[in-house]
Amino acid sequence: MNLRKVVVQGAALALCAGIFVAPVAAQDAPVATETPGADAPAPADVPPVPEADPQVVRGEYLARLGNCISCHTVAGGEPFAGGLPFKTPYMFLGTIHSTNITPDDETGIGKWTEEDFVRAMHTGSGPNGDLFPAFPYTNFTKVTEDDTKAIYAYLRTVKPVKAEAPANSFVFAFRFAMKFWNAMFFEEGRFVADSSQSEEWNRGAYLVEGLGHCSACHTPRNIALAEKKNEHMWGAVVPDVVLEGEYRPWFAINLTQSKKGGLAHWSIDDLKRYLKTGHNKFGGAFGPMNEVIANSLSHMTDDDAKAMATYLKSLPAAPDTQAMQLAEDEKKAGEELYLKHCEECHARSGRGGFMKAPPIVNSAVVQGQDPASLINVILYGAEPAKSLNPPGAWETMRSFRDRMNDQEIAAVANYVRSSWENTGSKITAQDVAKHR
Ligand code: HEC
Ligand code: HEC
Ligand code: HEC
Repeated sequence: MNLRKVVVQGAALALCAGIFVAPVAAQDAPVATETPGADAPAPADVPPVPEADPQVVRGEYLARLGNCISCHTVAGGEPFAGGLPFKTPYMFLGTIHSTNITPDDETGIGKWTEEDFVRAMHTGSGPNGDLFPAFPYTNFTKVTEDDTKAIYAYLRTVKPVKAEAPANSFVFAFRFAMKFWNAMFFEEGRFVADSSQSEEWNRGAYLVEGLGHCSACHTPRNIALAEKKNEHMWGAVVPDVVLEGEYRPWFAINLTQSKKGGLAHWSIDDLKRYLKTGHNKFGGAFGPMNEVIANSLSHMTDDDAKAMATYLKSLPAAPDTQAMQLAEDEKKAGEELYLKHCEECHARSGRGGFMKAPPIVNSAVVQGQDPASLINVILYGAEPAKSLNPPGAWETMRSFRDRMNDQEIAAVANYVRSSWENTGSKITAQDVAKHR
């Protein structure tokens, strides 16, 4: 790499990291042992469509698939009025806030033309300057012009709110830096159908890669925080809320067909059920996925959910996670803790229990390339979003923060990552300490 490229990349890294971000818990976020997202705004919070203009109705549906509301609404605040803070993984970058996208003339996008809006969604460049990829235009660029216009039409009908977004930390004033970043990492262009695949597969690919922006969390990023194209959906660490105002790394699991650490054993129907309800026989949503499902995916039609599942089922497998070396006494210590704290719900066999708990044998969360989500589940418990109440779902899993020390949590995590058919790298007490 020549010097100019290094400098440009450095600038991009320093100034444009809005991509790898996480919302800060708002004022009335969940109390103590609740998991994040459990208080995701109920569907009823979404403003009703005033008249039945078919374009507006379609736009509302599409806006849900893009989950605009989760990022553009603070807890207890007006829908789409913005102001939600996002953290980057680099401390020195500080915080960037989402903007007001209601049709208010002064503080929102009331003066934006349809053209302005389409350009912002497709190129990341708005009338107020280049946008940082905390706004997932790198995915939204794939959305058709027609669908984008429908979203615009819908946003014109939501209640205008006068609300200025709080000031961003100073690095985010350097919007010109995005020119370099875009030149190096951004590919503008609409979704192109693959004619060798079915219509259903193509619809799924369009939704997953476009509005659904799954890769924004599930694909690992390079040092300049651009998605690694050759590790598409291999799973990635994302900073997000665990308790009010507190961030911890989460692992957005490997969504590919890997046998160890991926979703090879989930059928299309299993995937569809999880996306629509946050629950299936293998697992239930918790953590950052709660908001994605409650505010967005659960509103999908059956056909769209099936299409998404069909496409996900075709993702080529990432490398399997590898088995760890665990000494006999380490295994024994882990087993004791498992029998004491976990067996009651997840069973000795790790296969879980009907109405009690999901299996942890073959779990992608347990076998993750990175153990972040496994550690969070044990430390903070697991609970689906309140608005999701799928039939046949389990109860919740309590927090073990005050019941086990770091050493013990590492021991039980290593036990579940090395028992039955499971694989995964070894965890230390220090790894757990970072999540406290
Ligand atoms: C992952 C979080 C996230 C999601 C999802 C998201 N946005 Fe945003 N959006 C942001 C952030 C953060 C900004 C501010 C970026 C900046 O200031 O550079 C933003 C900025 C924008 C802007 C620019 C506004 C301005 O005043 O310049 C528009 C328009 C916008 N978003 C529309 C949408 C729409 C429509 C959707 C849903 C289809 C959506 N966003 C989904 C995070 C998100
Ligand atoms: C805001 C970040 C984020 C986005 C966006 C996101 N995910 Fe996730 N996802 C996660 C995290 C973190 C986990 C692991 C924790 C959990 O299960 O909640 C996860 C877990 C999952 C699981 C695994 C459940 C299990 O129990 O093994 C599936 C399936 C999934 N996501 C699918 C999707 C799809 C499909 C999309 C896009 C439509 C998507 N996700 C978008 C963060 C995200
Ligand atoms: C009171 C019953 C209960 C106990 C005890 C319990 N769990 Fe859980 N566990 C659950 C439930 C219920 C879920 C699913 C929560 C959801 O759907 O959000 C879960 C989810 C999980 C998951 C996520 C699985 C996946 O793939 O989505 C892991 C990992 C896990 N538990 C590990 C453990 C470990 C390790 C222990 C012991 C330290 C333990 N659990 C103790 C009930 C329990």
